[in-house]
Amino acid sequence: MRLALSGLTKSFGAHRVIDGITADFGELRTLALIGPSGGGKSTLLRIIAGLETADAGHVLLDGERVECTREHRSRLGVVFQAFNLFPHLNALDNLLLPLVRVHGLAEAEARALALATLDRFRLADHAHKRPAELSGGQKQRVAIARAIAIKPRVLLFDEPTSALDPEMTAEVLDVIEELKSEARDFVLVTHEMGFARHVADRIAFLAEGRIVEHGSPEQIFTAAASAQCRDFLARVLRH
Ligand SMILES: Nc1ncnc2c1ncn2[C@@H]1O[C@H](COP(=O)(O)OP(=O)(O)OP(=O)(O)O)[C@@H](O)[C@H]1O
Ligand SMILES: [Mg+2]
Repeated sequence: MRLALSGLTKSFGAHRVIDGITADFGELRTLALIGPSGGGKSTLLRIIAGLETADAGHVLLDGERVECTREHRSRLGVVFQAFNLFPHLNALDNLLLPLVRVHGLAEAEARALALATLDRFRLADHAHKRPAELSGGQKQRVAIARAIAIKPRVLLFDEPTSALDPEMTAEVLDVIEELKSEARDFVLVTHEMGFARHVADRIAFLAEGRIVEHGSPEQIFTAAASAQCRDFLARVLRH
């Protein structure tokens, strides 16, 4: 994908959460957004996803200006921090509903695709369970299965492993690597620094609503230009 942000700002009330971001990431496969809590990572991801409108500025994805439209959203696969599964629907119906309602697939075709996707994530035995009956890792895999069922080219993941134990985290990270090898592009918010370094071809460090710097993983992890980024990494990599 090609991704560029231009003069992007977003406030909630008096709080400027995205504070004039301009950045051209050029052509890239995986962008990781890292930075302190409250820095604006999720908000930026939601703007790229077309789920939130910026007050000013714009996002260019593959040369096209991102609009808050259903058409834009339907081209992306989005996975949130807190899964966002429909609580009253079982796993199968969680996949089925957007395939039918958003992507306009016929019921039978949607069902076959949903079942095949659940199977791929070793969820076939859990297809008829509601989210409350699934473990954290299973819920996360259902959310990822739902996001990729339609084979979007760009996937936006917001801390896909934040609610998981180490084993499930490893499993979800494996899934992400597998998807990457299928030529899917990612914008990934993550606190997994080792994974970010391994999987991303560009890392952007966000703090207080600004991209303080961005660069290759090598650059950011061994020779960050800003003290703010170096301090952040020193804090999170201490353990
Ligand atoms: N809908 C909203 N209404 C008001 N304030 C909001 C809203 N969404 C986010 N904020 C505020 O915007 C700031 C940035 O939030 P955001 O969720 O983008 O941060 P983040 O970098 O993703 O943090 P974390 O790492 O904790 O997930 C925070 O101070 C948050 O309280
Ligand atoms: Mg967040």
